Amino acid sequence: MGEYKNLLFENQDGIGILTMNRPKALNALNTETLSELSQLLDEIAKDDSIKVVVITGAEKAFVAGADITEMLHMTSAEGRAFGLLGQATFNKIENMPKPVIAAINGFALGGGCELAMACDIRIASEKAKFGQPEVGLGIVPGFAGTQRLPRLVGKGRAKEILFTGEMFDAQEAYRIGLVNKVVPPEELMQAAKTMAQKIMKNAPYAVALCKAAVNLGLDVSLDAGQDYEATLFGVTCSTEDKKEGMSAFVEKRKATFVGK
Ligand code: HXC
Repeated sequence: MGEYKNLLFENQDGIGILTMNRPKALNALNTETLSELSQLLDEIAKDDSIKVVVITGAEKAFVAGADITEMLHMTSAEGRAFGLLGQATFNKIENMPKPVIAAINGFALGGGCELAMACDIRIASEKAKFGQPEVGLGIVPGFAGTQRLPRLVGKGRAKEILFTGEMFDAQEAYRIGLVNKVVPPEELMQAAKTMAQKIMKNAPYAVALCKAAVNLGLDVSLDAGQDYEATLFGVTCSTEDKKEGMSAFVEKRKATFVGK
């Protein structure tokens, strides 16, 4: 992996731990950090030794949003380009065939909440705080918060969060379905790794196709989604992993998957 100023990365036995590392600004996303993230995600996507990715933040924040000092002087054109950069970067997370888990250790505000929402699964520390405070700064979310939040928590709850801009805690995030699980701070990374290990026991290509089917299904009609699912099911029927998974069941042994 390349060298990054504002990111850390470590491959721990197939689990890629990506840490947003700009703690002096609570890991706020400036253009430099977003560009680095985009590049690192490309590297991760190409590396077959990384099976699952966990994204977390250094020190007390996950990510406290886009960088306000950079946005202060942005023109409309620059703002649009900045929004598109963040959206394209987060789409790399959503579209990557590998599962991505957000381990939310602290503030996940604005662009930080949007980053967490682009991940497949969210696990929060009891200390995590969420919110979309943009309207208090005179702006709207720009990294797909207005689109992913209602898809996760429903229209009414999303509008309340977006219109009030208020922060809420991890338990509330869990209650409304924004996070999958809340754990004590000291157990956060282990909880994310345990989840990753559970996923890694399964056929990786099948998991990747589940991800693709869920993502596509939320954007198309039920009929189109079902048709896609049937096609993917057909695809998995001719994989080595299907043969292995079903043979292992019949032979009462543990399956060893190869990812194809
Ligand atoms: C730039 C930030 C920042 C941000 C914190 N910092 N958030 N810098 N952009 N989003 C900096 C502070 O200025 C400060 O720098 C240092 O990090 C520590 O922050 P404090 O405020 O001293 O910490 P604390 O008192 O604990 O308060 C934490 C906080 C607060 C509640 C999270 O920092 C805060 O409200 N931050 C802004 C959150 C926000 O509005 N985010 C949404 C941004 S809009 P110094 O140099 O003083 O030590 C957005 C839009 C996305 O995300 C879409 C764009 C297209």
